[in-house]
Amino acid sequence: MTETAAPAAPLVASPAAATPTVTITPRDNGSYKVTGPVTIADTAGNTWPIAEGRAVFLCRCGHSATKPFCDGSHTSAGFESVVRAPVPEV
Ligand code: FES
Repeated sequence: MTETAAPAAPLVASPAAATPTVTITPRDNGSYKVTGPVTIADTAGNTWPIAEGRAVFLCRCGHSATKPFCDGSHTSAGFESVVRAPVPEV
């Protein structure tokens, strides 16, 4: 469930560009791709640390049997959602 591809370029340059950042990408008709460094946590105190440059996929369709993680069920559920963040004015 990990991926090593580089995250997409940010829309706005960060003043702390040298600091590793978390990137969250809503995938077309699918999960949220979250690229670390980040720690995913649940309310029971379980944690999943995600290393810098590694990714995890979180369910946003509600059909996964392994929430908060995506298990691919969005495809058989026919989940449809294509979102694009508004481009900030410069
Ligand atoms: S987004 Fe993939 S199972 Fe929900």
